[in-house]
Amino acid sequence: MCGIVGFTGREQAAPILLECLKKLEYRGYDSAGIAVRDSSLPVVIEKTTGKLKALSDRTHGGKALKGMSGIGHTRWATHGAPSVQNAHPHVSGGVRSTVTGVHNGIIENYAELKQKLTDNGYEFYSETDTEVLIKLVDYYYRKYRIGPIDAINRTMVRVKGSYAVALMFDDYPEEIYAARNDSPLVIGTTQDSSFLASDVSAILSRTRSFYYLGNLQAARLKKGKVEFFNLNGDRISIRKKTVDWETDSAEKHGYEHFMLKEIHEQPDVIRRMLDRYIEDEGICICDDQLDESFFQDLKQIIIVACGSAWHAGVAAQYMTEAVTDVPVRVELASEFRYRSMYACKECLFIVISQSGETADSLAALRKAKSLGIRTLAIVNVNGSSIANEADHVILTLAGPEISVATTKAYSAQLIALYLLVIQMAFIRGNLDAVMYSQMIGELKELPDKISSILSDKEKYQRLATVFSSRQDMFFIGRNMDYAICLEGSLKMKEISYIHSEAYAAGELKHGTISLIEDGTVVVGVITCPHIADKTLSNMIECKSRGARLITVTDLEDKGIESVCDYMIKIPSVNGLFMASLAVVPLQLLSYYTSLSRGLDVDKPRNLAKSVTVE
Ligand code: AGP
Repeated sequence: MCGIVGFTGREQAAPILLECLKKLEYRGYDSAGIAVRDSSLPVVIEKTTGKLKALSDRTHGGKALKGMSGIGHTRWATHGAPSVQNAHPHVSGGVRSTVTGVHNGIIENYAELKQKLTDNGYEFYSETDTEVLIKLVDYYYRKYRIGPIDAINRTMVRVKGSYAVALMFDDYPEEIYAARNDSPLVIGTTQDSSFLASDVSAILSRTRSFYYLGNLQAARLKKGKVEFFNLNGDRISIRKKTVDWETDSAEKHGYEHFMLKEIHEQPDVIRRMLDRYIEDEGICICDDQLDESFFQDLKQIIIVACGSAWHAGVAAQYMTEAVTDVPVRVELASEFRYRSMYACKECLFIVISQSGETADSLAALRKAKSLGIRTLAIVNVNGSSIANEADHVILTLAGPEISVATTKAYSAQLIALYLLVIQMAFIRGNLDAVMYSQMIGELKELPDKISSILSDKEKYQRLATVFSSRQDMFFIGRNMDYAICLEGSLKMKEISYIHSEAYAAGELKHGTISLIEDGTVVVGVITCPHIADKTLSNMIECKSRGARLITVTDLEDKGIESVCDYMIKIPSVNGLFMASLAVVPLQLLSYYTSLSRGLDVDKPRNLAKSVTVE
């Protein structure tokens, strides 16, 4: 996804903009640019394709550009190929451009607006929807001879789509303007500077005081002061929030990649979650509105998410239906948002999202609310759009997750779901006090058990070299093991670029087994004892067709070792929590496979950390 930054203060802006953009690199991009200005001079713009280093080299680390106000952008192309012409910032044109801007999002009616502007004498130099947006602001600003906020508001009324936009107006040299709809935008201040960015991590090293701009709201940033406006142009106030993440938690701490660091952070993240949500008298994970009577009356749960967050939901479905009498549906957010469905009023809609900004998940949440369903968000970013719009929120306390491939946030989502389900089951009488405290005890064993898996990384480095040349991999399992395979397969494909599929083991014979040939890698996850033999026989069927077998298991004496080529033995734990353990070897296997293929582990091609457009 694109990243936007802005600064106005009493220091040279360009080096600060480059520093902030670097913190947004993990979002994925193909070009970058900055625009700065001094009060007396016109805006100076520099843009390059490729990595941020090219822009930094071109501007001598920003020192070549003078000005104490500026905006910057990393572009993840949606309209128009990656090129300098299409890179942001974009301008309204003319001798001295009235308006200069950067944008994250998609303007859905840009073609219609482009025609309107062309009919009014505007010319276009790029293929982007952003240039249309900037010129539309300029159109209103000039036509109605109104101030920047009014021009922005008129634009927001006219535009359809998602945007987080930062603008500079030629007539207002020391101010930065911002507006948003659906795309994330956070504003930070210090005593004499103001910042804006697509997410907190970009400016966390500069300030801990943040304002989260709401949909269809605008802001005027001055040096150390911010004013907020609604669509009518009235001044409004927005509550200031502070973020307690350690500034250096978005650093690598000696690990080669953020992904490896975040894999190794998982034991501490789980400890932090358990410390926060388990008190002397038991689990305390919901706010007091999600009270006992709500859970006693609950008739259905719908879990909605994307990617790994959806995989956590699939694991939660197996667990919830194993310990409670509540039926659970798990839906992909991109499907849920467009399907018609019935939901009883005693339904709980759970949306899971690390970023809290995934467009499909946010749209699904809004749909659930329009259906009058009670909504709960499990998110990692406090103050994110999903966190702000859900009725209830559980924070996953994983800290900033920089690597595009999620690991610690996925694990934290699982813990939040375990705690929620155990508390629900206890309230509904599905669990007695003994089982309740026993399950809490088993959760507390997870961090040390994960640490024991992490201590044997050499095994995964060796395995990765064996498999890194493969073109196809299959991950198979049943029940909770299938849910684990979903996540293991996504990890592998998204960072190693090896084609990989997760399959319910029993489903292989219905077509997919025709793909198994000599050397195909099949990873079997076998932790459910009551169906272990079934999965093992599916693996043997693959082996008899030439497959190489890797098995992840905690089971003893099931004849697994004699069948598979490589067995990864993990500690045992209550099968309901097994996803938290079995996923770790699959994370490590993917990481080292990507490494052995010489790929950019933290920033895989084509991917973004948060998909804020649909
Ligand atoms: C997982 O490694 C990917 N980064 C991706 O599938 C991600 O889980 C998905 O885009 C959902 O993101 P969210 O949790 O921020 O909503």
